[in-house]
Amino acid sequence: MKIRILCCCLFFYSLTLLACHQKDRIYDPNKDIEYCVVQLKKTLQSLPIDTPNIPRSITNTRGNWNLINYKDWTSGFWAGILWYAYQASGDDSLKAAADRFSRELTPLSKESALDHDLGFQVFNSFGNGYRLTKDTSYKHIILATADTLATLFNGHVGTILSWPRAVPHMEWPKHNTIIDNMMNLELLFWASKNGGDKKLYDIAVSHAEKTMKNHFRSDYSAYHAVIYDPKTGGKIKGLTHQGYSDSSMWSRGQAWAIYGYTMCYRETGKQEFLDFAEKVTKVYIDRLPDDLVPYWDFDDPNIPKAPRDASAAAVAASALLELSSLVDDEEKAAHYYRKAVDMLASLSDNYQSGKANTAFLKHVTGHKPNNSEVDASINYADYYYLEALLRLKNSNRRY
Ligand code: GLY
Repeated sequence: MKIRILCCCLFFYSLTLLACHQKDRIYDPNKDIEYCVVQLKKTLQSLPIDTPNIPRSITNTRGNWNLINYKDWTSGFWAGILWYAYQASGDDSLKAAADRFSRELTPLSKESALDHDLGFQVFNSFGNGYRLTKDTSYKHIILATADTLATLFNGHVGTILSWPRAVPHMEWPKHNTIIDNMMNLELLFWASKNGGDKKLYDIAVSHAEKTMKNHFRSDYSAYHAVIYDPKTGGKIKGLTHQGYSDSSMWSRGQAWAIYGYTMCYRETGKQEFLDFAEKVTKVYIDRLPDDLVPYWDFDDPNIPKAPRDASAAAVAASALLELSSLVDDEEKAAHYYRKAVDMLASLSDNYQSGKANTAFLKHVTGHKPNNSEVDASINYADYYYLEALLRLKNSNRRY
């Protein structure tokens, strides 16, 4: 009996030691960056020359990619991943592929705006390309696209119209703005500082401030969408399209908010955005499960059986690495950095696709209410995962 009790004590003691070790472990992103480059090269080899040839998601057990063309909202993530992989490896074949897949998106700079996603599409592709190569033809495309995005701005409301079309339950033709739209402000900030119209900066600031006022509940969780009166600018209501319910916290939406307000502070230096980024971060971190990868919606009553969303974890990890570099308080900086590292370690340990397919991550949820891309691999999760790994590698903080 005594021996059994002793064995039990030893077992739980070793579990505690293991947990402490995991928590404080030094996580080196290099091996996982190499993994991403290997996976990506396999995907690249499998793609057809003719469009649609942009890999979006994998929803089957055979590991085949669902392919899209430049119009799809996720079209810029693939070129962005290629640019990050080129940045990581210096491999010129990846640079050539990144250039080719970016240029497939050129029509977006000439056509009228289909929706707010132009930032995701053109800034992640051409934006990363310009950052790494300074190719002026990319710059022209980014500037033209920023002007196109600005055509969706409604001055009465003070925000960009995210979806200029009828969407179920969204009371079209009223003005809708979704939290994801915060991400696309980066394109406007960049353009205003790189030869574009200065008004683009004002539009981005107005959108962020209006959203800060109308898009959040008292606990700083975000509505997915807000409907406004397009003439008076008054808020009509907050609701959801992709989350569990109008009052729930949709995980990726909250991650977009964390990333978006952190980026707004970087671009403007306005303290209100930094303070807000910290508030929307707190409710997200406080409600995470133990492994730091959220269920697709924090309020799905099916938790713990509900699907996870690894993309939200990747977006949040990348944002928190930036947030940790922007706050003055060292304790806060260490807190955000540690959380980001633990999120990345968790994704790398338990959410990599490995041999199942050639994406980087699995257990990503796209649109649960539509039952589409649930528990899948999706290109935007991979994009922010690799971005976060590179941010970590290039960070000079070590806690
Ligand atoms: N922007 C669409 C989504 O996050 O699913």
